[in-house]
Amino acid sequence: MNLSEEINKIPIIKAITSAAEENHVEVFMVGGIVRDILLKRNRNDLDFLVIGNSLEFAEKVAKKLGISKVTKYKNFGTAHFKYGELNIEFVGARKESYNRNSRKPVVENGTFEDDIRRRDFTINAMAISLNKNSFGELIDSFNGYQDLLNKLIRTPLDPFQTFDDDPLRIMRAFRFAAQLEFDVDESILKAAKEMKERLRIVSQERITDEFIKILASPKPSIGLKLLFDTEVLEIIFPEIHNLAGVDQRQDYHHKDVFLHTLIVVDNISQVTDNVWLRFAALVHDIAKPQTKKFVEGIGWTFHGHEELGARMMKNIFHRMKLPMNKLEYVEKLIRLHLRPIALAKEEVTDSAIRRLIVQAGEDLQDLITLCRADITSKNPQKVEKYLANYEAVMKKVLEVREKDKLRAFQSPVRGEEIMRICNLKPSKKVGEIKKAIEEAILDGIIENNYEAALEYLMRIKDDYLKDDEKK
Ligand code: CTP
Repeated sequence: MNLSEEINKIPIIKAITSAAEENHVEVFMVGGIVRDILLKRNRNDLDFLVIGNSLEFAEKVAKKLGISKVTKYKNFGTAHFKYGELNIEFVGARKESYNRNSRKPVVENGTFEDDIRRRDFTINAMAISLNKNSFGELIDSFNGYQDLLNKLIRTPLDPFQTFDDDPLRIMRAFRFAAQLEFDVDESILKAAKEMKERLRIVSQERITDEFIKILASPKPSIGLKLLFDTEVLEIIFPEIHNLAGVDQRQDYHHKDVFLHTLIVVDNISQVTDNVWLRFAALVHDIAKPQTKKFVEGIGWTFHGHEELGARMMKNIFHRMKLPMNKLEYVEKLIRLHLRPIALAKEEVTDSAIRRLIVQAGEDLQDLITLCRADITSKNPQKVEKYLANYEAVMKKVLEVREKDKLRAFQSPVRGEEIMRICNLKPSKKVGEIKKAIEEAILDGIIENNYEAALEYLMRIKDDYLKDDEKK
């Protein structure tokens, strides 16, 4: 197959081919870019394999393009520069094996074949020649093109060897399966299951990066299910692994929380690309196993799983090295995920709605998105009823918001003023008084404005200060 037409569209190709000719060096386009050209996917990361000195070659190409900043990694034989939006990387052909314990690759120079066969998957082991006599030819030593057509992830070598070189490839296989909606070859599943423990030597950052890529894919359940079936999930995210299974007692069984979670994550992924909202969907029921209780006559209950689940997040964020600035958001969504349905069921009071508005703050819409995704009933009438309930809650939210202008809620009488009026130093008491004013507004005892809040403060302050005088 000749792909000259496709690669001639890439702006830097001319500079590369002329530098290759002038310097008598062989160059190939390799890896993800070849796969993505064949899949007609857009991509900004372009990798070139150089048979010869890749660092020198990168400098020559950069010079032709008028680029002065080339980043070089001598030990790895790679050089990188940016050209507009494009990330251009040159790598020398290598025969790489990893130090089994440290994961540091031991890099040796190799031939084109050495380099290609040590790559992770057949769909990533294709190359396009940029050399004069074979310009544009696809070099496909492991039938990667056929695998692309068959939508199959396969390793060029025995998967045990491919994964031994870099155990993270186990997760990469599942990530590509989720991203491209491909199947994974049986041999990979078998090797993954047997070699899963080797993932323990891989850095948490690399593991988390792949995990998040799975969550960000169009249908994350494909990757999550593969992680589960091969028991890799038990190593990288045991709390999610533990959601699986059903208990039967008398006539009661509860639904398998893992399978339910997969549906919720896929549901939410159809309506949002926000990976942290998807993550919240993944973990929203994370404390169900710990809170599960069988109650005679009622069946299975999971009281408090939303609060415990929220509390579990801090450790998980630390352990998985997730961005701490997303912690509060995820905690909040877990903590509140049952609230809208509770409000839909009862006779809704304004104050209950106000609490939801205040506690969810700017994430209220995301919370409702999560709640809608959480409906996994197969009964269309039930689904319709639940969705209508959320509509009703949101309508009420709009009404109360309009009435109270609650968007940025806090006591209209600020802490400074409370201290001045009550003659208090900064202390817990100031916070308590402020909270009392806020509660009165939320409960609808007073209106949400300065005059009402000030008047209320004058009314309650003596009660609060009285306790202090006694001491
Ligand atoms: N590669 C590999 N083993 C790894 C990582 C990468 O063999 N553990 C090879 C593959 O040939 C891959 C190429 O290096 O195609 C580039 O790696 P990377 O940029 O991580 O992946 P891409 O395939 O380019 O995919 P994406 O950019 O979508 O992650």
